[in-house]
This record gives sequence, C-alpha cells and structure tokens, in this order.
Amino acid sequence: MTTTTTAPSTAETVLDARGVTMRFGGLTAVRNVDLTVRSGEIVGLIGPNGAGKTTFFNCLTGLYIPTEGEVRYKGTVLPPKSYKVTAAGVARTFQNIRLFNNMTVLENVLVGRHTRTKEGLWSALLRLPGFHREEKASREKAMELLEFIGLDSKAEHLARNLPYGDQRKLEIARALASDPGLILLDEPTAGMNPQETRTTEELIFAIRDKGIAVLVIEHDMRFIFNLCDRVACLVQGEKLVEGTASEVQGDERVVAAYLGEPFEGAPGAEEAAAVEAAEAGAAEAVAAQADAAEAEAEAEAEAEAEAEAEAHSTTSTDGEAK
Ligand SMILES: Nc1ncnc2c1ncn2[C@@H]1O[C@H](COP(=O)(O)OP(=O)(O)OP(=O)(O)O)[C@@H](O)[C@H]1O
Ligand SMILES: [Mg+2]
Repeated sequence: MTTTTTAPSTAETVLDARGVTMRFGGLTAVRNVDLTVRSGEIVGLIGPNGAGKTTFFNCLTGLYIPTEGEVRYKGTVLPPKSYKVTAAGVARTFQNIRLFNNMTVLENVLVGRHTRTKEGLWSALLRLPGFHREEKASREKAMELLEFIGLDSKAEHLARNLPYGDQRKLEIARALASDPGLILLDEPTAGMNPQETRTTEELIFAIRDKGIAVLVIEHDMRFIFNLCDRVACLVQGEKLVEGTASEVQGDERVVAAYLGEPFEGAPGAEEAAAVEAAEAGAAEAVAAQADAAEAEAEAEAEAEAEAEAEAHSTTSTDGEAK
C-alpha cells in the first residue's frame, strides 16, 4: 500500500515562491504568499472558492506576471512565459480541462512532448512531416506514459469522446510528457466518482515515486489529507495556515474559513469589523429616528386628543347655555 512520506528537511527545494502578490485593479487576488515544495513532496493547496488558488498557480507558471514577488524553480527565477516555465521543468493541468478535443489521446500526449523535441508546438499541432518523424521517436515514450496513467487501450480515441474522468487523467499524462520535475494539479478529481478519485490518488503517489514533486489544489478534503505531506490554506488571497495534514485539519481557522465564519485575526477582519460598526451605528441612528418619530406622533396624538376634549367641553357648555 502506498503511504504518505515526509520528505527530509534536507531535500532539495524544487519550488520557492516568495512574497507573491497578484492584483487585478482594486482586487488583490493573492497577497504576499510564500510557499516551498521540496523534492519528494506532495503539497496541498486548499481554500474556499475565490481564495486565489488558481491565480497563484497562474503566477507560478508564467500565465500571470505577479505584481510582486519571485518564483524560483531549483534555484533559478522562472521566466514570465508559460512555455518557458514548462521547458524549465514545471508542468501543470488546468481546472477547466484544456485538451485538443479533435486529436487522439496519443496525439495529445505527443503535443505535450513538444518542449522536449526539436520540432516545435506548431509542427505538432499542424502535424508537419517533422512532427511525424519525431512522433515515431516519441511514440514509445508517449505509450509508456499512457500505460502508466491507464489510458493505453484508448490511445487512438478522440480526446472529446473520453469520459470526463479520463479527460482529467489525459491532462495529467500530457503534463507528464514534458518530463517535469514539478507538476501542479488544479482540482484533478473535480467531477470524478469516488472510485476514480481513489485511482487518481494512487496515480499521484506513483508520480511522486517517479521523483516528481507535486503541488495540488483540491476541494476534496479526504483526498488532500490522505495524500499530502504538507497543506497550505489560502483565504482571501492570504496564506492563513500551513502545516502537516493533521495540523491543518485540526486548525479552527481553517474550519471557520470553510464555514464562512469570521475569527480573530482573519484577513479582512478589520474591514468586516468597521462595516459591522458602521451598520450598528446606522441601526442605532435608525432606531433613534424611529423613537423620535414615535415620540412626535405620540405628542401630536396627545395634543389632538386635548384639543378634541377642549372642543367637546366648549360645545357642551354652549349646549347647556342653550
Ligand atoms: N484575470 C482576472 N481578472 C480579474 N479578477 C480575477 C482574474 N482571475 C481571478 N480573478 C479573481 O481573483 C479571485 C481569486 O480567483 P481564483 O480563481 O484564483 O480562486 P480559486 O481559489 O481558484 O477559486 P475556486 O476554488 O473557485 O477555483 C476571485 O475573486 C476572482 O474573481
Ligand atoms: Mg480555482
């Protein structure tokens, strides 16, 4: 049985992200996040929807240029272009599957190899003669990968005809085709049934055992806590907690973040408190206004009653007089 192992602290640092911040206009999607992944490790990245996990991945892989901060892979600063990041040794999969739907399973993997072949991406996509020569040389390697991932029997199927779970696996195979030293997986089990999730878990352990470090985003907590040596939790763009699976699992701040409950020191707690105070102030003002209006209405009613009583007494006096 495969088990989680903790990489020794002397293990090489594969990924070193420091002070990564990503702003979109007025919105800070990722704020000053530090994260390292060492060789032999599986690290999990969790956090509620919109916490900034995918944005952080985009900053790591050259899709976004972080507003601030630096990302190093094996000690070298990564270039701000995604194909250069892949060539450097960092591969990824996408939250929204991005396959070439009209290509076969095998061709998708071969396209993933373009960073490691003399022929470029266009040659692969346009199936130029050079691609076919390279294809022969790469075919064996790609078939090995498909076997590893469990899709070898579907090598000639069109990607678009694969069931959803297999498409996710194919994305992983394509990422592995670039011979990465680090793979980033964005929700690899989204939409999978429990059996497929279990298989994916085994697959990720096997990827780690091949010597590839893994950083994985997932909402399925059982999957994350089972799989990861270390887990970091992002909330509103900030890294709130980082630790072993059991440390993070037992952290009340993480539970609160998922339940949407505020806690002392939460990012944005000050703003929330200010809004609450303002709301309370506004409520008080409304209540005071209501009290004043009520008092005024009461006074008016009293005055009216008095005037009516007076008028009544005058009439009866008059009547008596008549
Ligand atoms: N290109 C962009 N332009 C503007 N805002 C963006 C952009 N990309 C992401 N955001 C915003 O950044 C925040 C973080 O989004 P992100 O997709 O990184 O969250 P996430 O943690 O991956 O969420 P989920 O679990 O739902 O996938 C959100 O408020 C999102 O709307
Ligand atoms: Mg996301």
